[in-house]
Amino acid sequence: MVIVSGIQPSGNLHLGNYFGAVQQFMKFIDEGHDCYYFLANYHALTSLRDAKRLKELTLSTAADYLALGLDPARCSIYLQSDLPEVCELQWILTTVTPMGLLERCHAYKDKVQQGISADHGLFAYPVLQAADILIVRANCVPVGQDQKQHIEVTRDIAQYFNNCYGELLAIPEPYIPESVATVPGRDGRKMSKSYNNTIELFASDQDVRQQIFSIVTDSASVAEPKDPERSILYAILKLFCDSNAQQYWTDRFRSGGLSYREVKQAIFDRFMEKFAPMRERRKQLENQPEHVEEILKKGVDQARKAALPLVKQVREAVGIRNI
Ligand code: ADP
Ligand code: TRP
Repeated sequence: MVIVSGIQPSGNLHLGNYFGAVQQFMKFIDEGHDCYYFLANYHALTSLRDAKRLKELTLSTAADYLALGLDPARCSIYLQSDLPEVCELQWILTTVTPMGLLERCHAYKDKVQQGISADHGLFAYPVLQAADILIVRANCVPVGQDQKQHIEVTRDIAQYFNNCYGELLAIPEPYIPESVATVPGRDGRKMSKSYNNTIELFASDQDVRQQIFSIVTDSASVAEPKDPERSILYAILKLFCDSNAQQYWTDRFRSGGLSYREVKQAIFDRFMEKFAPMRERRKQLENQPEHVEEILKKGVDQARKAALPLVKQVREAVGIRNI
């Protein structure tokens, strides 16, 4: 299978990105699929208008990918903007995309409903995402639940194109395991770079501790039994637990006598245990920007091998000449 996914370099990577996306990226690499993982820096422009910060975040997110274990020998890691043909494909796709399809998309609709004027970039965001996916003929897209609608839009756009010009584009499926579909943030909303509610994968030990200890809890006393299903702490701790450990904590919550402090400490300990090797690798990569650049270069060369023949066929299909 061909797998593709991207993350916007618009902030520091967090637990939601890891469990909702990167963990699945690894699974598909381990299964030997043809995997394309990129940094969606054109998409990041819809929320970040600071050139210096975008440049920094782009390289640092690439280093994060590597530190988390995405192995450039077994997948293609690249920058979206290094494959500018996605913008060409996006344009062609916009010409078969009904306005109504985009008007129904959450990111755009929410902004308009809040009375904020949306720009065309935000409106067209899902079409660029469709181009990212269709350009490498992906069959499967590992993402978090929040991206489900965008994959559906991609499928619709591909079908509109195919109906019009012939069966050229592969129709992709989303891959969203239920147990990690939406990781809650410190405030109980979806964890997101844009909500200031994250637990960052590569923050200092002290900041990670502070972030974990600021997860919102209710005012139940230590003695009171607690409902794990209503607890943000439990939802986050569960991510680190096998089924035995989950059962242990479910019982501890239900039987009372458990302090929220103890649960926060358990999350911190497990976070450090799981991410220590990756955090160490991330520190080493700090001093190797040329190494990261080299990997991005190799990655885009590989992605181009898949993308250019598709773009050529699309041009032919619609009547734009190839030179
Ligand atoms: P953010 O919302 O923090 O800006 P992105 O939009 O760049 O994150 O998301 C990158 C990937 O991580 C997407 O596949 C997205 O679905 C996934 N993801 C982000 N936040 C979460 C979350 N809280 N739970 C599960 N998956 C998430
Ligand atoms: N929109 C995605 C997000 O915010 C990022 C993204 C851009 C993406 N292009 C993609 C994800 C293609 C999967 C496939 O998380």
